[in-house]
Amino acid sequence: MKSFALIGRLLRALPPEAAHRLTIRALAAGLGPRRRRITTSLSATVFGLEFPNPLGLAAGFDKDAEVVGPALDLGFGFVETGSITPRPQPGNPKPRMFRLTADQAVINRLGFGGRGMEAAAERLAAFRRRDATALVGINIGKNRETEDAAADYAAVARRLAPYASYLVINVSSPNTPGLRALQGKDELARLVDAVRDAVGDPAPPVVVKIAPDLEADDRAAVAAVTQEAEIDGLIIGNTTVSRPPGLTDPARGEEGGLSGRPLMPLSTAVLSDMYVRTAGRIPLIGLGGVASGGDAYVKIRAGASLVQLYTALVYQGPDLVPAILEALAERLAADGFSTIYEAIGADHR
Ligand code: FNR
Repeated sequence: MKSFALIGRLLRALPPEAAHRLTIRALAAGLGPRRRRITTSLSATVFGLEFPNPLGLAAGFDKDAEVVGPALDLGFGFVETGSITPRPQPGNPKPRMFRLTADQAVINRLGFGGRGMEAAAERLAAFRRRDATALVGINIGKNRETEDAAADYAAVARRLAPYASYLVINVSSPNTPGLRALQGKDELARLVDAVRDAVGDPAPPVVVKIAPDLEADDRAAVAAVTQEAEIDGLIIGNTTVSRPPGLTDPARGEEGGLSGRPLMPLSTAVLSDMYVRTAGRIPLIGLGGVASGGDAYVKIRAGASLVQLYTALVYQGPDLVPAILEALAERLAADGFSTIYEAIGADHR
């Protein structure tokens, strides 16, 4: 336990992107904890898949599917890799990732830098030869220069669906020009259809990841599309381009998407609203600022069937994963819930 706390302090002394690269290398070398498959009273069937526990690693940590197994070994019930684009691309100029330590937040403007779908396919195929059943979501993006967005999403979906427990259409990263416009009603419906056509049948569940910055009209449009198009779930949500009140860290003025603790109120409010708008018809994955078991519980009560996190790991290290699961189980028991299903959306009843 102590050693991870020390490593965390050392990592946070490095620039964020260098620290991230080193973390990925260390995990790939087998230096992380091994707590695979924490199956608890929290196990749940969502999208027809059996999740050993409802806490997942969010997209952005393992963009190129380099450490899927080691990330699962941290104790997560599932891991989402990506966002993955068809072709490799460098992303935005550095520096492009900033810690707001005083606010327990991060601002990033990476812009989908990554090695592209062929490199990811190779790694995912190797992973699946070792482990056919672990729950791995694959999050899809588009190359910056691509004009026909649907063609990019369709290409990655087709190439990577064989390895995916579920696919994520990411239309909410703030650092690719025009991407968030794909959350519009017609645009989103077309995109989902294109991905469905590309994947064919049988297809993994297809979920859409939205921004916490959507206005009420846009949220109504997304809810309408979930009824018209074949969308199995929503992920709520991505980073925010807003700057929530109370930020004190000098880096708060950096351009990009903000994640971490200050995102919790906004992302939970949007989650709650989308639960009402979709009337519990499809599962929602809640994330944004989750840093404790109490936060995870808040997301579930607001309407999340599953919860993810990323930024809290930067500040609290890998011991956070079992700590959250333990605290979450305690919260459920304290409120008299014997399964997670009873707590999903409890605030609305
Ligand atoms: C992200 N996130 C993200 N999301 C996504 O769908 N595709 C991506 O490529 C990335 N990349 C990315 C990089 C970095 C450095 C960060 C911090 C975040 C967003 C992430 O998955 C999540 O939605 C937000 O970070 C909010 O959750 P947390 O971090 O507050 O728990």
